[in-house]
Amino acid sequence: MSLNLSLEHIKPFLSEKEIDALADETIDQVVKIHQKSGPGNDFLGWVDLASSTTDAFLSEVEEAAAVLRSKCEAVVVIGIGGSYLGAKAVTAALAHNFTQKPPEGDHPEIYFAGNNISEDYLAELLDVLEGKEYGLVVISKSGTTTEPAMAFRVLKKDLEEQKGRKEAGSRIVAITDARKGALRTLAVQEGYRTFVIPDDVGGRYSVLTPVGLLPIAIAGYDIRALVRGAADMEELTCPGRTFRENPAALYAAVRNLLYRRGKKIEILVNYQPKLHFFSEWWKQLFGESEGKDGKGIYPAAVDFTTDLHSLGQYIQEGERILFETVISVEQPDRKVVIPHDPDDLDNLNYLAGKRFDEVNKMAGLGTLLAHIDGGVPNIKLSVEKLDEYHLGQMIYFFEKACAISGYLLGVNPFDQPGVEAYKRNMFALLGKPGFEKETEEIRKKL
Ligand code: PA5
Repeated sequence: MSLNLSLEHIKPFLSEKEIDALADETIDQVVKIHQKSGPGNDFLGWVDLASSTTDAFLSEVEEAAAVLRSKCEAVVVIGIGGSYLGAKAVTAALAHNFTQKPPEGDHPEIYFAGNNISEDYLAELLDVLEGKEYGLVVISKSGTTTEPAMAFRVLKKDLEEQKGRKEAGSRIVAITDARKGALRTLAVQEGYRTFVIPDDVGGRYSVLTPVGLLPIAIAGYDIRALVRGAADMEELTCPGRTFRENPAALYAAVRNLLYRRGKKIEILVNYQPKLHFFSEWWKQLFGESEGKDGKGIYPAAVDFTTDLHSLGQYIQEGERILFETVISVEQPDRKVVIPHDPDDLDNLNYLAGKRFDEVNKMAGLGTLLAHIDGGVPNIKLSVEKLDEYHLGQMIYFFEKACAISGYLLGVNPFDQPGVEAYKRNMFALLGKPGFEKETEEIRKKL
């Protein structure tokens, strides 16, 4: 079953007429995306990636995953931003909440590194890896990003010291540009197995390339179902679909209309802790794509009901610049029923016999109604269950919606010039060769 977008709870804020008034403009953006004629059009390789992924390619990824799985008790996936968040989002959404592994089967533990520069983080990762057979998947499109390069240098050394350079090399897979960058040079020199990040797919749109597929396959999940879900959503959001048939177009139009009405912050809401990192992926996708030229909806996220006991107050009564997009998972995987208690000291017997999920759903409905009463428009996205197929649908849905939305906003959703500013300062402060002028300037500022 397909993901379902409901605009029922937008009605108090936007009329059908107002939404439909944006139909032509929105469909023009869909066409522009498929014709590859808009800004950033050299980064549109993700648009038909799912439908053009071949069986042979998936087999190659699965085979590389099988090699690492056969040798390793743990695999460290090194990368940051778009080279990290997609794999983290999918594996976290599918894993057991506590073991962080698939519910069945014997799979390596997956750790993520190179997504921060915390010394304690890396030191503690080395503690965890001690005595374990492990391997590395190092991911960087540019091949020069500081955070993953630093982590890789440390972990590569540790692995080589334990296993020798040759065996270590057989446990390292590099995912990078086809030709250029330091990681490509190193991979060629050391003879690492490699996968290519296509030139026309930017980091935050890369989860369905080997960037996401290899770690997800190593972790033990079905990458074929993931790609199938995305391909089905590709079909559902293609230019042949009308505005009302295309959920990505509708979502993009509605969030732009809300933005024009002063709703500057979108909060992605989930009621499943497993979706926490999906929200992190979503935040990067929309934040990097739309936040530029002094414009853009700020993407925020909450995990409910947990955050109802913290941010819930602001959402209900704070500044009225918010709207919410709620992801509702229809079917839980597991069943827990609230038991009857003869003493009923906690007064919960009125819930006895009900499933947790029923209470969760009522909390969701109650919250939605309260937030609407409080002036917070709600978009609802229902997904049948959290599995690879539906995650594939959600990934493509948001990617497509983000591109349409960026074009409606009038920005290039495929560049990220702003992320260079901190790097320049950091390099200047650290005295990186080539940054002498910046070092001098920044010293004066300090
Ligand atoms: O979306 C993006 O392009 C960025 O977030 C990058 O993915 C991130 O900076 C990592 O870059 P790289 O893969 O070149 O190391």
